Amino acid sequence: MDISTTISSIKLKNPTILASGIMDEDAGSMQRIIKRGGVGAVVTKSIGLTARRGYPNPTVIELEHGILNAMGLPNPGIDHYGEEIEKIKHLQTPIIGSIYGANPDEFIELSRRMEDLDVDALELNLSCPHTKKYGLEIGCDPYLVRKITCAVKENVSIPVFIKLSPNVTSIIELAKMAEEAGADAIVAINTVKAMKINIDLRRPILSNKIGGYSGKAIMPIGVRCVYEIAENIQIPIIGVGGITTGEDAIEYFMAGASAVQIGSGVYYRGIDIFKTVCSEIENWMKKHGYKKLSDLIGVAHI
Ligand SMILES: Cc1cc2nc3c(=O)[nH]c(=O)nc-3n(C[C@H](O)[C@H](O)[C@H](O)COP(=O)(O)O)c2cc1C
Repeated sequence: MDISTTISSIKLKNPTILASGIMDEDAGSMQRIIKRGGVGAVVTKSIGLTARRGYPNPTVIELEHGILNAMGLPNPGIDHYGEEIEKIKHLQTPIIGSIYGANPDEFIELSRRMEDLDVDALELNLSCPHTKKYGLEIGCDPYLVRKITCAVKENVSIPVFIKLSPNVTSIIELAKMAEEAGADAIVAINTVKAMKINIDLRRPILSNKIGGYSGKAIMPIGVRCVYEIAENIQIPIIGVGGITTGEDAIEYFMAGASAVQIGSGVYYRGIDIFKTVCSEIENWMKKHGYKKLSDLIGVAHI
């Protein structure tokens, strides 16, 4: 059974990737996940030029069908995060460096710094739903998406992935702009803008009021986005949003994803989720007569 996959020049032994923001703020937690042996690649926490504390608590709430968070992009900044990457480099698992910035110049600086740290690819987070300046103000504007993608592509030689938001009128237009600008892959989706109110207190629960919804509830939104993008661009797509089982991943492959990322699923099923999802994918393929993962990609398009 061949479940290996390729995204641009990155070869993955299996199609599961740790999503940005989950157990990746330091080397220790990424190391734990990699050493369990099931993950195909890891994406780092989104890193900026300088350290950010993030928002005060509450920043994460578990809801019935998903997880709502407004962390506010807490991170140690690129100067300090470099040490964390150094500690996991030797583990032979591709590392995708996620970065955020407020303008093309910040993205250029961060992408050069990440490349110097020897990551295998970059993921540009243009889609955080709760930090306007670093998120949707950029990710909703197709021309800015193009400008930032072009700027980064001109300055690094490693593959550049663009992570898009579902909180837009047309994700297709944004994906096309990224492709035109030279992106090597699209990552879809980031969290869905959402809110939870405590009716006794009559106030939103999150300190930032609005957050990003992830987990099981958003899977149909992610699958729709991947399907729409796949009908309009040629570069590979990495599907993310709500995946907790091998069957969920297969849905994304059928929609057109060449690999998947898992974030909230780690909270639901623990750090062995990558191994479990891979064996569920293999079991499904065996049962349905597939020998290669690549034969499944995009089959839902008619
Ligand atoms: C607590 C938390 C923190 C996150 N932080 C980031 C981040 O720093 N950068 C980013 O691009 N996405 C971030 N995300 C979004 C995830 O990478 C992913 O796109 C989203 O959660 C949907 O996938 P899931 O349903 O598997 O969690 C975060 C998600 C959660 C739940």
